[in-house]
Amino acid sequence: MSYRLSQAIKIGDIELANRIFMAPLTRMRAYQPGDVPGDLQARYYAQRAGAGLIISEAAQISPQGKGYMATPGIYSAEQVQGWRQVTAAVHAAGGHMACQLWHVGRVSHHSLQPQQQLPVSASALPYTNKTTVMGEHGEPVRVACDTPRALRTDEIPALLETYHQATLNAREAGFDMVEVHAAHGYLLHQFQSATSNQRDDAYGGSLENRARLTLAAVDRSIAAWHPSRVGVRLSPLGTFNGLDDRDGLEMGYYLAQALAERGIAYLHLSEPDWAGGPQLSEEFRVGLRARFPGVIVAAGNYTVAKAEPLLAAGLIDAVAFGRPYIANPDLAHRLLSDAALNPPRPELFYGGGEEGYTDYPALA
Ligand code: PHB
Repeated sequence: MSYRLSQAIKIGDIELANRIFMAPLTRMRAYQPGDVPGDLQARYYAQRAGAGLIISEAAQISPQGKGYMATPGIYSAEQVQGWRQVTAAVHAAGGHMACQLWHVGRVSHHSLQPQQQLPVSASALPYTNKTTVMGEHGEPVRVACDTPRALRTDEIPALLETYHQATLNAREAGFDMVEVHAAHGYLLHQFQSATSNQRDDAYGGSLENRARLTLAAVDRSIAAWHPSRVGVRLSPLGTFNGLDDRDGLEMGYYLAQALAERGIAYLHLSEPDWAGGPQLSEEFRVGLRARFPGVIVAAGNYTVAKAEPLLAAGLIDAVAFGRPYIANPDLAHRLLSDAALNPPRPELFYGGGEEGYTDYPALA
């Protein structure tokens, strides 16, 4: 039997070879100084070009958007040049690639911020969460995040401009699409959740107001390219990064409908807290499909067995695989041929070089 995951899928005018996508995966190996991707990343991603679509590890859209050590940016000329190498290698290997546009908001630490300033968020609320900074010898060290300062209303236009410019940069760098990261307790999600957003301006209060920054960021991204080149990632109910997303399902519905009206490339649904988060119900999936007729990409602990019935029912259109892609550069081929998978080495997920990155074997 051949799997539905093996079928080609068209997004806008781009034909993707299959429905097995590579999920965005933070690896913290960008070259220093400057958080620049380069030939190490080009090798890693080109090895994985058998995915229908590779979604890059999250890339900060400004120095302020950074929340972990050695994550790559998409704001400087050097970074754009570095990503050019990566996309050229992926295209030469027959793949397609989207750039995930990231602003971490409060999931950061002043040592990662320009001039050691406090990270920004919707509101200046204390919360308990950790992030990763660089130790004395380049090793990852976990530290408590700072209590952020609230963005002023008059800072929002400049923030939105960074989504516009990052999209232009991603085009320039040779990506096929961008994905606006509006999930996982990062900045846009911090605005969506009533618990982290206690603003009294047009970006806080009602659900519509809390959704406003996410939609404005997407609109600025679309303005820099085309709706069919802009995907959006959401994680309704996700509690990752200390978020309490109480009306996440309602917010998910509202955003899905607003994004459908914009004709975006795809809606990427991270079924969050890949370690043990709430399962999305069949009822929610049906409601989401009714509001979003376009391409829905699902992610979060998927297997072929979980994906196929959802594809057959028309509730999702593709699946992004994360951790299995770390350990299996030829994951699409392996899943479609029921081959065994390499086990991952989690101690090598973050930081370092080739080891645990480009040294996982493909099948002969
Ligand atoms: C992480 O670095 O752990 C991370 C980054 C981005 C995500 C999720 C997790 O969306």
